[in-house]
Amino acid sequence: DTLRIGSIPADGIGKEVVPAAQLVVEAVGVPVKWISLDAGFEYFQRHGVALPQSTVDTLINSCDGALFGAVSSPSHRVEGYSSPIVALRKKLDLFANIRPVISSPHVPRSLPGINCVIVRENTECLYVKEEQLTTTASGHKVATATRRISQEASARIAKVAFDIAVQRAREFKRPGKVTIVHKANVLPITDGLFRETVLAVSKESAYKDIIVEEQLVDSCVYRTFIDPQSFDVLVAPNMYGDIISDGAAAVVGGLGLVPSANSGNNFVVAEPVHGSAPDIAGLNIANPIATIRAAGLMLQQLGHDKAARAIEAGIQESLRRGQTTKDLGGSESTHSAAEKIASHAVAA
Ligand code: NAI
Ligand code: MG
Repeated sequence: DTLRIGSIPADGIGKEVVPAAQLVVEAVGVPVKWISLDAGFEYFQRHGVALPQSTVDTLINSCDGALFGAVSSPSHRVEGYSSPIVALRKKLDLFANIRPVISSPHVPRSLPGINCVIVRENTECLYVKEEQLTTTASGHKVATATRRISQEASARIAKVAFDIAVQRAREFKRPGKVTIVHKANVLPITDGLFRETVLAVSKESAYKDIIVEEQLVDSCVYRTFIDPQSFDVLVAPNMYGDIISDGAAAVVGGLGLVPSANSGNNFVVAEPVHGSAPDIAGLNIANPIATIRAAGLMLQQLGHDKAARAIEAGIQESLRRGQTTKDLGGSESTHSAAEKIASHAVAA
């Protein structure tokens, strides 16, 4: 069966790392038909829309999954523009953002012994993007944003986290643990609801062997830097999960290495954790590993476990040989790094 995969490079280094990952997927022999789809800020500047309806329709009607690069969202307000990846997560109800963070023994800046999964709620929190600007009687501006936390979304992300913990406990033959990340001491209603809901899910009989702990988000950042080895599965509301992921990337060697899968009940859009990296875009020096790993996560979710393992073995071999891009101290280009990984993956 040929997989039909949407390819959405979008902006900046997305246009370099997505083709690199496609090359590796093809090398491991998974039959894939790639369907090129438009989205992004550059597309918006030319056509006035960031996520064309045709992209959404094609994904829904004729794709098994998709590989996304990155978008460049400006920090100032642009009339009519809204991040297409945030929109895509909502439109396809990709409610779980799954981000494995693993040490690389051959990467000098990677701390040893880290193997955790950040499970980030992907549809609500501050990313509902309901912002308002008002002016006080004395003429000063006041900006307000809605932060929505629902019992429903919190319960389903909790189930994803606990299921992953159960599966990992079985795989690694040790007790599983879920760390609930929140700030309920300051936000007892919103984060309080998230905390209570996750705790309620933890009482389900299927999860009786999973250890449950809580960590306030600020000290969670601290712990990510000083003791990341102590994490197994973390479950967090949208924005906390976003922030902790970049911090966790730092302790395993950088953003060039960490993938993510946006998963719904029957669809997956895989993407690197990093953004469009305008500082290095167009130079063919971006590390493709995060996106190659993302493609591996996608293949795994689509039932191609063996191919996913071959890809990871190819990555490990390249790292061992120092066949890396500049961010990891090597001299490979984006393209040549991917070619090396592809050749090792085939041999694996
Ligand atoms: P970024 O993740 O793009 O870059 C942060 C730093 O990491 C930069 O110095 C960059 O060169 C480096 N970096 C990132 N990926 C790399 C790779 N594969 N290889 C080597 N170095 C890499 O974050 P930044 O600079 O805060 O945001 C840039 C743009 O990306 C913004 O417009 C932002 O909105 C967008 N963004 C998009 C995301 C997405 O599409 N899901 C996620 C995060 C940011
Ligand atoms: Mg992010």
